[in-house]
Amino acid sequence: MIPELPPSAHIPVLREETIHALAVQAGGRYIDCTLGAGGHAIAILERSAPGGQLLGIDADPTAIELARQRLASFGKSSLLLNENFADLEATCIKHDFFPVHGILFDLGLASFQVDREERGFSFQKDGPLDMRVNPAQKTSAADIVNTYPESELANIIWTYGEETHSRRIARYIVQERPIRNTLQLTRIIEKAVGGRREKIHPATRTFQALRIAVNRELENLESALKQAVSLLGFEGRLVVISYHSLEDRIVKQFMQRESRDCICAPQAPICVCGHVATLRMVSRRAIKPSPEEIDFNPRSRSARLRVAGRIVNQDTYYKAVEDEGFSNENDAGGWRRPALLRKIRMAFAASCN
Ligand SMILES: C[S@@+](CC[C@H](N)C(=O)[O-])C[C@H]1O[C@@H](n2cnc3c(N)ncnc32)[C@H](O)[C@@H]1O
Repeated sequence: MIPELPPSAHIPVLREETIHALAVQAGGRYIDCTLGAGGHAIAILERSAPGGQLLGIDADPTAIELARQRLASFGKSSLLLNENFADLEATCIKHDFFPVHGILFDLGLASFQVDREERGFSFQKDGPLDMRVNPAQKTSAADIVNTYPESELANIIWTYGEETHSRRIARYIVQERPIRNTLQLTRIIEKAVGGRREKIHPATRTFQALRIAVNRELENLESALKQAVSLLGFEGRLVVISYHSLEDRIVKQFMQRESRDCICAPQAPICVCGHVATLRMVSRRAIKPSPEEIDFNPRSRSARLRVAGRIVNQDTYYKAVEDEGFSNENDAGGWRRPALLRKIRMAFAASCN
């Protein structure tokens, strides 16, 4: 039995669409890079039974604890680790968990993080200015808000929040330092922005910007996407759900670039980059939640799911197979799956005919 969660803990977004995009199959191996409350992980383990295996990682130890309780009934099918996905490749190599059939990133935060005032993510609840996904990390939002020069603060609020009043907000913040609590910061932003009416609360973008800066979200994402590609087996799926345009832009551009054989500037007369495509787009457009899902879970409204499949150049692949000792069916506790290997060989044989 999977323990019930209070409805507020987290509702997995685009759950069925994610399973479909990952092409989950019995006996498959998957990595959930953003385990959260384990909602997607449970769906993956249910659909990959019998024999499916899941490596779940999350930078927040609270998430790992919560997911551990919820995934207990799957026994040894899951391995849950408190890691940052910026270290994805090293983590998978350490635990001999590659190649895999699919990798999922469900970016952002889980409800159980946003709704806890002591985590400092919400501009509507009073708490310390923290915003660290992993509380062991050094820099918190309070460090940035209270010590960064005004110009750097404005830069963060502009770049990561796309906030047009960034300079004004930064000036007000610096004048009012030290700022200790989230509501204190919210009031300062409201004062800086004045009575301007917008669809979203005036503090939304600044809080987003601080959270991105504290957790190095965009740098970690760019790095993790590159690492993910190298861990996917032939036809393995890379699935990313993002919740704001900055993340989605990174994912979209990464998948587009990786699905091209040449990434030279369009005016270059001949190709000099030597780039070889590693992905193919499975769906050209981002997949969005249905109106029914948004009604049921308003937090899903900004979600965008993108999916790509791994392609492998034949020569590179066969070299990798030899280098990895892939053909030994018994090595690495059966992780290097003979079924996958057979599928890859058949696909290449067919493409050579
Ligand atoms: C939207 S939630 C995932 C929810 C999950 N799919 C579910 O169904 O319950 C995002 C999760 O990613 C985690 N996270 C954010 N940045 C991370 C990073 N760099 N490395 C690992 N986990 C991260 C957060 O702690 C959070 O638990």
